[in-house]
Amino acid sequence: MPDYTLLKILHMTAAALVIIGVLLSSFTVAKPPAAARLASIRRWDRFVTGPALGAVWILGIIIGLSGNWFSSGWLPVKLVFVLILSALHGMQTGGMRRLAQGEAVPAFLRFSPYIALVSIAAIVLLASAKPF
Ligand code: HEM
Repeated sequence: MPDYTLLKILHMTAAALVIIGVLLSSFTVAKPPAAARLASIRRWDRFVTGPALGAVWILGIIIGLSGNWFSSGWLPVKLVFVLILSALHGMQTGGMRRLAQGEAVPAFLRFSPYIALVSIAAIVLLASAKPF
């Protein structure tokens, strides 16, 4: 089993890529760009943000279990926001596919930047302050 600190560093690195990627997709679905830019953002989503989100989940569950963090109160609350962020990412990926096909995106995706902002702030604050 690799060192706990190494797993935690990898978790935080992947989390940074998720934060960047979800914000990028948030502004893309909220204000669609021209076709060439949309294509490059979709490639970034497929090859960077999606795999980083998978890595964040796997590494998060491993450090959560090996550090016995699932018995603390902050982690389940953080997981609610992780689920919201993951669902948002899934809907953004679908929304960007629809944009590429010339279709409209669901109207609520306009609020993507705000949903991302609240979820990311809650996740990072809970994980670093561990208030309960
Ligand atoms: C299944 C999902 C996840 C689980 C089970 C999980 C679990 C954990 C655990 C247990 C820690 C504490 C490690 C320690 O202090 O020793 C942690 C730290 C952290 N997590 Fe997650 N995490 C998940 C998803 C995420 C996501 C989606 C993000 C950001 C978008 C994120 C960002 C962070 C950050 C920034 C830290 C470091 C906090 C610090 O030490 O200052 N995590 N995570």
